[in-house]
Amino acid sequence: MTTLMAIALRSYNPDDFERLYEVDQACYEPAIAYSRRELRNYLRFPGADCIVAEADKNLVGFILTAHGKSWGYIVTIDVLAPYRRTGAGSLLLAEAERRLAAAGVREIGLETATDNSSAIAFWRKHGYRKTGVKKAYYPGGRDAFSMNKLLT
Ligand SMILES: CC(C)(COP(=O)(O)OP(=O)(O)OC[C@H]1O[C@@H](n2cnc3c(N)ncnc32)[C@H](O)[C@@H]1OP(=O)(O)O)[C@@H](O)C(=O)NCCC(=O)NCCS
Repeated sequence: MTTLMAIALRSYNPDDFERLYEVDQACYEPAIAYSRRELRNYLRFPGADCIVAEADKNLVGFILTAHGKSWGYIVTIDVLAPYRRTGAGSLLLAEAERRLAAAGVREIGLETATDNSSAIAFWRKHGYRKTGVKKAYYPGGRDAFSMNKLLT
């Protein structure tokens, strides 16, 4: 029998900060994971919004977005490894896109490392297309694909 883990979404609140940081550290290698200072700055971006995913009341993932008038940006999406491939990332993304669309956003962009094949598969599945390459985008020198999606 397969048991599906129930994932519940809610908005971030400042008490989540330390756990958010831990989840980000666990999801990325040290060169790419955010410092506390970077994470705090992103949470203060214009139009920043953060949605967290909980399994059994534990924060196991989150998505952080920002937006201007019609253009949105996905800063990061993180799901802890044991909770991947069960739809948590897709739930987070759908809710973030819903909120961005409700705020008037028509186009969403993001960057992802060119060697992050699981993330690229995830973004493609959700309608994001490569628009370019940013050389040495990440600290440590890794390249990034820029990807975007038009909301209909
Ligand atoms: C990218 C990430 C958020 C996906 O989260 P997730 O909860 O596993 O995503 P889902 O279960 O909703 O996956 C949806 C679909 O994306 C694709 N996908 C996700 N992970 C994949 C993988 N490792 N290999 C191939 N396809 C993958 C599949 O099409 C999947 O559907 P399926 O499971 O029915 O085949 C997660 O892998 C993660 O946190 N990675 C580390 C951080 C990161 O790289 N974030 C993105 C950087 S921009």
